[in-house]
Amino acid sequence: MTISVDKDKKLFTLQTKNSTYQMKVSRFGYLYHLYYGKKIEEPDLSYLLYNGPSNYAPYPHESSDKMGSLTLTSQEYPSVGTGDLGSVALDLENADGTHVVNLKYKNYQILDNKYSLEQMPSFYGQGVQTLRIVLVDEVSGIEVELLYGVFDKYDLLTRAVRVSNFGKQAVKLNRVQSLSLDLLHGNFDLIHFHGRWGSERNLEKLPISHTTTTLSSNYGVSSAKENPGFIVTTKNADEMSGSCYGFNLVYSGDFNATAEQGTLGQNRITMGLGDNQFSWKLEPGASFESPEAVMSFSSHGLTQLSHNFHDAIRNNLCRSKYEKVRRPVLINNWEATYFDFTGKKLLAIAKAAKKLDVDLFVLDDGWFGNRSNEDHALGDWFVNEKKLGLSLKELVQKVNNLGMDFGLWFEPEMVSEDSKLYRHHPDWVLNFPDRKPLLGRNQLVLDLSKESVRNYLFERISDILDSANVSYIKWDMNRPITDWYSKGLKDQGELQHRYVLGLYDLLGRLTRKYPDVLFEGCASGGARFDLGMLAYEPQIWTSDNTDPINRLNIQYGTSFFYPLSAMGSHVSVSPNHQNGRITPFATRSAVAMAGTFGYELDVTKMSEVEQQQAKDATDFYKKIQDMTINGDLYRLLSPYADNDLVAWQVVSKDKSQSLLTIVATDVVANPAFIYLKLRGLAEFSDYKVDGQIYSGQTLMNAGLKLDPLKGSYSSRQILIEKVS
Ligand code: DGJ
Repeated sequence: MTISVDKDKKLFTLQTKNSTYQMKVSRFGYLYHLYYGKKIEEPDLSYLLYNGPSNYAPYPHESSDKMGSLTLTSQEYPSVGTGDLGSVALDLENADGTHVVNLKYKNYQILDNKYSLEQMPSFYGQGVQTLRIVLVDEVSGIEVELLYGVFDKYDLLTRAVRVSNFGKQAVKLNRVQSLSLDLLHGNFDLIHFHGRWGSERNLEKLPISHTTTTLSSNYGVSSAKENPGFIVTTKNADEMSGSCYGFNLVYSGDFNATAEQGTLGQNRITMGLGDNQFSWKLEPGASFESPEAVMSFSSHGLTQLSHNFHDAIRNNLCRSKYEKVRRPVLINNWEATYFDFTGKKLLAIAKAAKKLDVDLFVLDDGWFGNRSNEDHALGDWFVNEKKLGLSLKELVQKVNNLGMDFGLWFEPEMVSEDSKLYRHHPDWVLNFPDRKPLLGRNQLVLDLSKESVRNYLFERISDILDSANVSYIKWDMNRPITDWYSKGLKDQGELQHRYVLGLYDLLGRLTRKYPDVLFEGCASGGARFDLGMLAYEPQIWTSDNTDPINRLNIQYGTSFFYPLSAMGSHVSVSPNHQNGRITPFATRSAVAMAGTFGYELDVTKMSEVEQQQAKDATDFYKKIQDMTINGDLYRLLSPYADNDLVAWQVVSKDKSQSLLTIVATDVVANPAFIYLKLRGLAEFSDYKVDGQIYSGQTLMNAGLKLDPLKGSYSSRQILIEKVS
């Protein structure tokens, strides 16, 4: 049983393969959190609760023994005005201006299917049970449904909250978090992933302390500044040991997460919608749904935690047919030409790429309107046949004739001031009244909360897709969203969230209409790399920074939550366009193979030697792609450790094959041998490595001994194959 309820003790228990989660209704009807961690069979962990004196903390009126202060006891869903003085999950303003919602247990239900959300994506799954617990505030008539989806085999729980107003007066929701988790005792570290353009998802580790740490984005997108995924670990946890809790949000807009220790040393984590300018009017009879949060537990360190997320994302989030099939190796013309191309030039690149066994040619920015540089024409989604020298249909046909598929870039959410669209519909952008809008890359943001805007985009994109055989879309988005004002919207505090709902509506309509098109996400690289986008787009361009050495950090940080099948990763030219670094082709391709592989350079300018290297690389990738897309990733040597080497291993699910990649970030004279203990192999099977046979046990315990790497940024890829 994944969900069990002890009605007498009022205990709710969620069990997954290796974890247990328990809650209990208190004597006054509050829902307490008891435990989340390593699996315990048939637990009753009520004894753990704080039952000491309140010591001047506020306690409920009905408590004649002066005990039961909510701020000292662990809560399942803490709310405002109840005497819980930590970060609360729910804050609202009643019609009389008060901030109070005193939630008590009402009833529960177990569903034999996974709940879904009406307007936002969420994880799905056959045979996944849902626990629904209803809490109510008798005075205002506000009801809160806590929803839990139990993904047994990934040790993963999903959570969402639905707030309904059964009272007589409207209330204003100011903060609705998707989850709150109180860990009763222990000292923990917080690992989060911050960054900026060209340097996304850098790992930082902080102790959870008595100050409140807030992780958030107010960029309108999940952002490069902070990824919504974060991890809480016991002290000294590492890849293979220690307790780790992972948290993430199926959402692509502003978010908020907090971690803090309470006065008695208990730890509280909250996560959900950004509440920066959020306010949502809930009329009598109306409901509000939170985005879905996901959490997973591993008692065996970070690698297992990553595997839980990777498997769940690959199997139960995105409904695109591409999620499970071999992804095309692509060539994108952006770094090859930027805006400076003609149809002839593009075809020359496609032809040269075909010789490298590339499957898909992607035409990036600049094919529409008068888009000669980044200052013009966003929004004018009409093919510029003059620039191309032929129609899109003809261009696609010619690429198809080469035996390649064709893909196209869009940046649907944006508009240039210099565009026909903006001239016709100046009121379609986000812009404060009577003020000049802020610019980002010289562009404005379309107001996706408006149905008319979404309909325009749906029609324009559909027209293009119907006019030619386009089998891939790169969906770009190149500026933070500011100027949050939507003409005609009554409550502007709802706008940020309505924008994201509008985006999901548009993506949902397009992906349903064009199930054979592969969508790849992008936001100036990886500024919107999140589970919400991954629900529609199986892969996302990880970063605009294609330097393989910088990419070691970026892809390392990204890999804690997101599988390699989600990470767009291309070979680009050397010296690199972003940082000028010179690296060998083999290292550029080895790093790009830790993702959905492709090229981003002018292949017509490659030397014959490099062309041969590229062909070999493509063919090798195709051989190992199934392992990369579906296998298990092991981070062996971190780019943050001071050892001049970064290494990782991908192992096929059946453990018959593994690819080890090692990259030198620096080299020295008189180097030591490289010793690496491999992971994830079958202990009692034999493997062939570099012509030698070793048992899995040997490779994982005694380790592999390799010659030192020589030469700037050199690398090695070693295929390890099971022989018996
Ligand atoms: C930003 C993206 O990240 C790039 O890959 C490229 O598509 C440009 N936008 C095009 O404007």
